[in-house]
Amino acid sequence: MIGVFDSGIGGVTVMRKLLKFLPNEEFFYYSDTINNPYGDKTDTEIIQISDHVVKTLVSKNCKLIVIACNTASAIAKDYLRHKYDLPIIAIEPAYKSVPNHAKTLVMATSATINSPKFQNLFRTYDNSNTTLLACPGLADLIETGNHDHILDYLKPKLSSYKGVRNVVLGCTHYPLIKPEIETVLGPVSFFDGSTGVARHTRLILTMRNLLAPTNLSATQSRVTFFDSSHNQSKEHLFFSLLDS
Ligand code: DGL
Repeated sequence: MIGVFDSGIGGVTVMRKLLKFLPNEEFFYYSDTINNPYGDKTDTEIIQISDHVVKTLVSKNCKLIVIACNTASAIAKDYLRHKYDLPIIAIEPAYKSVPNHAKTLVMATSATINSPKFQNLFRTYDNSNTTLLACPGLADLIETGNHDHILDYLKPKLSSYKGVRNVVLGCTHYPLIKPEIETVLGPVSFFDGSTGVARHTRLILTMRNLLAPTNLSATQSRVTFFDSSHNQSKEHLFFSLLDS
């Protein structure tokens, strides 16, 4: 089994790709909504929370863990890899996939934008046309699924960036609101790290001879869902997003 976690249901955008790239695997998805949002917490808090989640996933005999959260990846990945023996795959804002940096907007949590990991990635490229936009509170709104509240948040936040060509979705919740983002900005090209993570996970499993042999078919039966706040509606929302 593969363990996957995020601060909530946003990691479903990574889970969709993992199911596609790894058709024989079973997954345990840990939605940590009791600690949502991660993005407004201190580094120490994010490391402690992520450590607790990973400990739980290890106790369930996961053979590999995917951090389906840019924030936990940026802040806690090194700590977790040092502490645990199993492979831990992390995600990062797909900034290096942007073909040219003409008018690019990078949206992510404050913790991700301010992290040395992201700042190093950012400085590797020509950034003259790139704007970094921390979006505190946006992942929480996406968790509630209220379309009107999401638009109320995005309109004042994004309206001065109309004309931007590329939008990097540096939080795994944000691919769920592409239509709302385009409602404000007009048509843009989106970039997120989910496909890269799924591909990398398959590569690591292959290299370590850990790929599951049998062919499982039904999507739902391959994913066990757990929500740390024991909120039943999260499971329903997660599976409806997984299938959409
Ligand atoms: N989905 C998480 C990410 O990719 C963050 C959401 C949060 O702030 O908890 O960064």
